[in-house]
Amino acid sequence: MALWKGRLDGDTNAQMWEVNASISFDRRMAIQDVRGSRAWAEALERAGVLTGEEAAQIETGLAEIEEEFRSQTFSFAPGDEDIHTAVERRLGELIGPLAGKLHTGRSRNDQVATDFRLWMLDHLPALDAALDDLQGALVEHAEAALIPSPSPRGRREFSPLPLGEGSGVREGRPLIMPGYTHLQRAQPILLSHWWLSHFWPLQRDRERLADLIPRVSSLPLGSGALAGVPFPVDRAALAENLGFERAAPNSIDAVSDRDFAAEFLFTAALIGVHLSKLAENVILFTSAEFGFFELSDEYSTGSSLMPQKKNPDPFELARGKAGTLLGHLTGMLATLKGLPSAYDKDLQEDKVPVFTAYDTLAALLPVLAGALRTLTVNGDRMESALSPAMMATDLADYLVERGIPFREAHHLTGQAVRLALQKGKALNALTLGEFQAIHPAFAEDVYQVFDPQQSVARRASLGGTAPEAVKKQLQKAKEVMSEK
Ligand code: ARG
Repeated sequence: MALWKGRLDGDTNAQMWEVNASISFDRRMAIQDVRGSRAWAEALERAGVLTGEEAAQIETGLAEIEEEFRSQTFSFAPGDEDIHTAVERRLGELIGPLAGKLHTGRSRNDQVATDFRLWMLDHLPALDAALDDLQGALVEHAEAALIPSPSPRGRREFSPLPLGEGSGVREGRPLIMPGYTHLQRAQPILLSHWWLSHFWPLQRDRERLADLIPRVSSLPLGSGALAGVPFPVDRAALAENLGFERAAPNSIDAVSDRDFAAEFLFTAALIGVHLSKLAENVILFTSAEFGFFELSDEYSTGSSLMPQKKNPDPFELARGKAGTLLGHLTGMLATLKGLPSAYDKDLQEDKVPVFTAYDTLAALLPVLAGALRTLTVNGDRMESALSPAMMATDLADYLVERGIPFREAHHLTGQAVRLALQKGKALNALTLGEFQAIHPAFAEDVYQVFDPQQSVARRASLGGTAPEAVKKQLQKAKEVMSEK
C-alpha cells in the first residue's frame, strides 16, 4: 500500500503507477536509506519522540533489513513504490505497527535527498581510484618514453636521427614525436611530454571531485517536507552521526538542492571530454597512416566482414560515451531550470543520469587503463615522421640569436621554406648560398638547427618539452599522485 493513500479514493491507474514509481532505480540506495533511517530513529529518541525501548526495536528491525540487503535476500513487494516505502513496509512486517513511528517528522523529500548524498559520498572514492589508476598508466608510458629500455621487439632501439653533438645523446635517449597544432606537423616534442599532457586534465578532474565533497556533505534530513521538524531534533548531531560535515541551513533549499548532482555530472562530462581527446589521438595514432601506436589484441576488436581489420573500439567508445555524458548534464540542468521552490516530482529524474554517468566511468576507466598499459609504441615510425620543416621556428630563432628581430626572422624563414618548396627539396637541403641569398646572417652552423634533439633540448624552461624539464614534470606528476 502506498504511503499516501488516505486522501485518495479507489486505485491508482496501473500505468500511472509505473511512471510514478522509482523503485527500479532508487533501490540502488537501499543501504543508504537504511543508514539514514537508523540515524533518524536515534535522533527521534534523543528528541523524546521515541522511547528507548521503541528506538531499540526499530533499530533491531532496520539492522535486519540492512543485513537482508547486504546478503541480497530482501524481497521487494509489488506495492513498493520506492526504496523508502520498501524499507518501511518490511520494517512493519518485522516489528509490527511500531514501524509507523519511524516516519515521524520526516518526509520522503528530505529522506531521498539524504540517501542520494550518502550514495554519492560512498561512490566518489571509487571514481577517484579509477582516475588515479589511469593516471598511473600515463605516467608509466611517460617514464618509458623518457628513458626507453630496448623493447623485446627492438622497436625503441631504432634511431633514425642524426646524433647531434653535446646534446646528451645516448643509446636510450628520450623518444621524440611530431607535435601537432591544427593537426598539422608543428614542432618536435617528447612523447613523454605528450603522455603527460593527458595526465594533468585528469588531475584537475580529481581535484574537482574532491572539491565537490564539502558541498555533497550538507545534510537535508530534518528538513521535513519543506518547513523543518516540529520536534527538538538535534540536526547537528544527526549530521555528525551520518558523517556529514554540516546540516543544511535552510529546509526549503535542502529538499530541492541538487547542485551536487549537477556538479557531479559536469565533472563526469568533463572527464568524458578529456578521455575523448586522449581517445581521438590514440585512434589516429593507431591508423596505418600514422602507425605510432599499436593496441594489444586483448583490447581490440575485429570486423565481421573485413578479415584484416583491428579496431580501436575501447577508444571509440570513450569518444562516443563522452557525448552521452554531456547529455546527462544537459538533462539535469534542464530539469532543475523550470522548478519553483522546494520539492517537485521532477526531481525524481535526478538519479538515473547520475547512476548512469557513474556506471559509465566506472566501467570505462579501467578498460582505458588496461588498453594503454598494453599498447605498443612504434618509436621508429614516430621519429621518421619528423621533418626538417618542423624546425622552421628554430631556424627563425637562429636568426634572432644573431640580432634580427623575430618578426623579420619569421618572414625570412618563411622565404626559405617557400624556396625549398619551389626547388622540391627539404628545408635543410638548401645550400648555404641559397640561405645566404635570403640573409647574410646565415652561416655554416645553420644546419645544426635541424636536429630535433637540439630543438626539444632548447625548450628547457618550466613546462617545456626538453628532457630535463619533462623529467621534473614527471617527478611533479608522481608527487601529486601520491599526495592524494
Ligand atoms: N521517489 C522520489 C524521488 O526520487 C522520492 C521523494 C518523493 N516525494 C514526494 N513528495 N512524492 O524524488
